[in-house]
Amino acid sequence: MPKFPIDREDRKPLGKTGERLSAIGLGTWAIRSYEAAYHAFVYAVSLGINHFDTAEMYGAGEAEEFIGRVVKAVGRDNIFITTKLYPYRFRDRHEAVKAARESARRLGVNYIDLVLIHWPDNQASIEEQVRNLEAIAEEGIARYIGVSNFEESELEEAIYSTRKHDIVANQVKYSIVDRRAERLIPIAIKHGVTLQAYSPLERGQVAHIKLLAKIGKRYGRNAVQVALNFLISRPRVVAIPKAESKDHVKELAGAMGWRLSEEDIEFIESKL
Ligand SMILES: NC(=O)c1ccc[n+]([C@@H]2O[C@H](COP(=O)([O-])OP(=O)(O)OC[C@H]3O[C@@H](n4cnc5c(N)ncnc54)[C@H](OP(=O)(O)O)[C@@H]3O)[C@@H](O)[C@H]2O)c1
Repeated sequence: MPKFPIDREDRKPLGKTGERLSAIGLGTWAIRSYEAAYHAFVYAVSLGINHFDTAEMYGAGEAEEFIGRVVKAVGRDNIFITTKLYPYRFRDRHEAVKAARESARRLGVNYIDLVLIHWPDNQASIEEQVRNLEAIAEEGIARYIGVSNFEESELEEAIYSTRKHDIVANQVKYSIVDRRAERLIPIAIKHGVTLQAYSPLERGQVAHIKLLAKIGKRYGRNAVQVALNFLISRPRVVAIPKAESKDHVKELAGAMGWRLSEEDIEFIESKL
């Protein structure tokens, strides 16, 4: 048996919100050509990808402005936007609210869908950080709140620190060759939290894993598609690879619409 029951949904629940995210979203870190990426991201929406991930840190605000341009082209209602704010913002309620407003302005939207603490701050308690994160939702700047790079105990503390708004997501590094984040899956299932898998391609490295290419052949898929399919087969997990060409985006979308067999998942678990 695989380590977790296979999740066959390509539209996965976001926390307990009733919102559904495509199993594959798109990230925006270290975009080289915003011009090329613009066409790739607009194309992605036509392939059923319905969420983008960004952060105030990426390109010092330029990535959020880029998402703003894409949103104008695809229509606000067709896309779910996650952004992340620097941890130090969450030491103070007004600072958190102000930073979220600035992100919304750069994104050109009236509201952000999901705002995350980019990583836990070591100068404020988790309870304090979550309180200030909640302020962003209370002010109506974001619909949902979550965290990123939170370990098990930090995630549970964050979940128990909320008053009115649930922690709906934890964005963590998770790839087929770095599966440490799997220890968060039982907590995610228990509390109904979505795990957003970042760097799911190990920055492109998984494309060169021969074993994955070999397995993929049986399904008419390539190594990248196998690597992503493995992740989205896990309960509560969506993946947010980054790509800036239409060709890459097409391949990423092709990670959805099928599933590896239980035997292949078990085989990968034992070999990689
Ligand atoms: N919360 C956090 O702390 C955190 C940290 C890191 C990342 N993230 C988020 O997660 C996103 C993804 O992670 P990442 O950017 O580190 O890396 P990644 O998604 O693991 O890898 C991106 C690399 O893979 C390449 N690629 C994309 N599609 C491909 C395909 N079909 N075949 C071969 N190569 C392909 C891309 O090339 P091209 O660019 O040339 O298309 C790019 O070089 C980020 O953009 C960001 O939004 C969050």
